[in-house]
Amino acid sequence: MTDQNNTPSQADDKKKIVVSGIRSTGNLHLGNYYGALSKFLRMQDDYDCRFFIADLHALTTNPDPKQLHESVKNILAEYLAAGLDPEKSTLYVQSDVPEIPEMYLLLNMHVGIGELMRTASFKDKARKALGLTGEGDEIEKEIIGNEKSQARVNAGLLTYPTLMAVDILIHHADFVPVGKDQEQHLELTRRFARRFNSFYGVDYFGEPVNFNFGGEALKVPGLDGSGKMGKSEGNCIYLIDDEKTLRKKVMRAVTDEGPKEPNQKPSQPVENLFTLMELVSEPEVVKHYRDAYADMSIRYGDMKKQLAEDILKVTLPIRERILDIRSNDEYLSKVVRQGAERARAFAADTLKDVREIMGIRKI
Ligand code: TRP
Repeated sequence: MTDQNNTPSQADDKKKIVVSGIRSTGNLHLGNYYGALSKFLRMQDDYDCRFFIADLHALTTNPDPKQLHESVKNILAEYLAAGLDPEKSTLYVQSDVPEIPEMYLLLNMHVGIGELMRTASFKDKARKALGLTGEGDEIEKEIIGNEKSQARVNAGLLTYPTLMAVDILIHHADFVPVGKDQEQHLELTRRFARRFNSFYGVDYFGEPVNFNFGGEALKVPGLDGSGKMGKSEGNCIYLIDDEKTLRKKVMRAVTDEGPKEPNQKPSQPVENLFTLMELVSEPEVVKHYRDAYADMSIRYGDMKKQLAEDILKVTLPIRERILDIRSNDEYLSKVVRQGAERARAFAADTLKDVREIMGIRKI
């Protein structure tokens, strides 16, 4: 047997371990679907997959008890509706596995405040929390603040990478399918693993790597003409969007005044629509509109109608299943109970070893 990277696996009967998580903030959108979920679906059969909902990570920004709980349920229903199979993969909620927070405490003893403060995602989020707009280097001073300052950056945000490393290392993951924005966290995970091994003189943790089926990490553009699809208004198509909402969003997508000369390079907003089309439409449909753009006969209205139609072909069946699954509390709780049980068994083994290695032993 060979894995997707064409390296023979050590033991044929032992599947490589895959771990990935998604934060429970809001609903899943097309960016999540094509960026992450579709990869998860392709990995289910060939790997030992453990996918989870990172609700503890979600708490690091805008904690809201009601929203958090709803979000966890929504995302679980969306995972299942998109095709993740609880019989093939271990699907669980992060907070259902208490071994994770315990190991997080232990691993934090080997993590430097400085390296955490230098992490790009922390700097971004800390800037937001403090209401800073500039790119200045004064951020450390602002974070420390003084007794009178009201603004505060929570410590959970700082130690986000420790928690993420534990999510991964507690399973001894080989592969971690994530987007480009998570590369730095994965790099830290490997560094923490090496440090733990060398500090205790053991060869305990391996070094997990990203996984993209040999391709580049995919970037799904948004509808507002700017960067990638995210949760900001007007930019995002959710799997749960109904037909009317979805059509309206696509029809309102930002374009330009049309090509000014034959064969010109499309502007960013128009190229974004082509990129979306390449994800959802047949190649001949994409070619038809590319050609129409090149010979300047394109009508953006027609193109958007077609795009909406083809997105709906992907999302509507998923939406139907989401609504169905979301209303079945009994099924949802059965799935997470079973998932937590399996995840806890793996996690408990690792935690037992880690405690032993660190010298936490029964008297
Ligand atoms: N930080 C990831 C994100 O924001 C979510 C995440 C948490 C994760 N723990 C993980 C991803 C472990 C992969 C593995 O997308």
